Amino acid sequence: MLPKPSGENGKNAASGLPHSSGDKRFKILELHMKKHQFRQDALIEVLHKAQELFGYLEDDLLLFVATKLKLPPSRVYGVATFYHFFQLKPQGEHACVVCLGTACYVKGADKIIGGIQEKYKIKSGETTADNKLSLLTARCIGACGIAPAVTYDGQVAPKQTPEAALEKIKTWI
Ligand code: FES
Repeated sequence: MLPKPSGENGKNAASGLPHSSGDKRFKILELHMKKHQFRQDALIEVLHKAQELFGYLEDDLLLFVATKLKLPPSRVYGVATFYHFFQLKPQGEHACVVCLGTACYVKGADKIIGGIQEKYKIKSGETTADNKLSLLTARCIGACGIAPAVTYDGQVAPKQTPEAALEKIKTWI
């Protein structure tokens, strides 16, 4: 079950204001919903976009979508869990999402993901055996100007290299 709106993020999502985190990806997602006139029957399409942007669908994100589309959170959560192509919050303690959109890809995102896969012996979508790290990919997280971009536990980091990514992950493991 989704939690009730709580904390700063929940309040803002419920009030219809932009997401309080200031994360640009919420704005992009909202524009996408607007393109669909906030139609409730665009839910699957919207969830696809959300996953493209964030790599996975966390509770807070599902709640944001529910609020904007004026749908009960249980309905949004139900759809997200029903379809196998939607990935809910990864099981690992930490999540690294490598953007594989065009701008990031041409600037070496494939080398970043390759470096992480090789070092931790996991593929995209998998979690290390000790449950410390989940590795995911996204398709354009709206930060092309600072490509290649990677998010570490939801925080977007600019101009990443395989070395920088491994250095960051080392602090988690
Ligand atoms: S392609 Fe990676 S942020 Fe746009």
